[in-house]
Amino acid sequence: MEVPPPLVLKRPLYVPSKTLMGPGPSNCSQRVLEAMSNPILGQLHPECLQIMDEIKEGIKYIFQTLNDATMCISGSGHSGMEAAMSNLIEDGDVVLTGICGIWGHRAADMARRYGADVRYVEASFGRSLSLEEIKFAFHTHKPRVFFMAQGDSSTGILQGHIREIGELCRQYDCFLVVDVVASLGGTEFFMDEWKVDVAYTGSQKALGAPAGITPISFSKRALTHIRQRKTKPKVYYFDILLVGQYWGCYGMPRIYHHTISSTLLYGLREALANFCAMGLKSVVHRHKECSTRLQLGIEELGLEMFVAHESERLSTVNAIKVPFGVDWRKVAEYAMRKYNLEISGGLGPTVEHVFRIGLMGENATVEKVDMVLSILHEAIQSIKQRAPNVERS
Ligand code: GLV
Repeated sequence: MEVPPPLVLKRPLYVPSKTLMGPGPSNCSQRVLEAMSNPILGQLHPECLQIMDEIKEGIKYIFQTLNDATMCISGSGHSGMEAAMSNLIEDGDVVLTGICGIWGHRAADMARRYGADVRYVEASFGRSLSLEEIKFAFHTHKPRVFFMAQGDSSTGILQGHIREIGELCRQYDCFLVVDVVASLGGTEFFMDEWKVDVAYTGSQKALGAPAGITPISFSKRALTHIRQRKTKPKVYYFDILLVGQYWGCYGMPRIYHHTISSTLLYGLREALANFCAMGLKSVVHRHKECSTRLQLGIEELGLEMFVAHESERLSTVNAIKVPFGVDWRKVAEYAMRKYNLEISGGLGPTVEHVFRIGLMGENATVEKVDMVLSILHEAIQSIKQRAPNVERS
């Protein structure tokens, strides 16, 4: 035998307990963690299928939809984006992506790989898109698919006007894909009322489930289109006609599509049950209240939010400008080393410019807001004291 068993695997598993207040994942509740220690089930066992049915009901509630094609993709939030793009796009389709941070670019990259002719409408730095900018882009590009993130976690920007964009899409016979990975639970979202064709969210953010299983829903209109495609979707794994048949969405016998993680299903089921018990309105209200408290605290500390306009700030992922002369990495390291607290840096266009503080699920509480403010302040002061040429406050 040439490769011996690794010594590292002789050591016991070590997992520290951290407070996850970056852009996600957020911490799971004890209920979710305990659910995930249940025995494994087979992917077609009736008890597993029953849990999947219950999850579908929970997703319909959190998305406010009656869509039959409501299911999960086995993968992180990115898999929701892949599934949306790969099912809707055929070669040469014009796909317009709205850009307020990294996610519009990511969707564009994927769309191009599926053969789309990609166009952009980009907001000015730190702003969301105005309806006029979007209307002008529709007039210019006449898209077949329009992608927009309701909340861009890289910039902390909340994109409004989804209802109006839904109307616009119908006028242009265009499909509306809305990424609610970072926004769901932190702001209102009404999939059916706003005429959204595809929506997907992150299990690991405000829902407080583990990452790796992504709730997604397709409108009847999108489903009809997908059934009438000239070519099959390019990725078997994301083909929602097949995935949906496995999830029992179409009144047809279930098929084996892939081996789902029953462990992740348990976690998501309990996170959804918890979310439903609290009620959508109260969850959204709590996330908004926590963000408002954080924003006030940030001002009191003499710091500044990255997004200038309050109405364009995402409540779940809050972006704060890194003060001049402060190394954000040292601040994040300080918080982690001393308090096991995750505060994140920027991503994409905000790299080096912002701290990102996530107030999601279990971590959207007044106590956690006050804790993160106090640690952020202490960390910045400590870093400034260690850098004598930087002005002290
Ligand atoms: C992930 O969603 C991130 O914004 O880092």
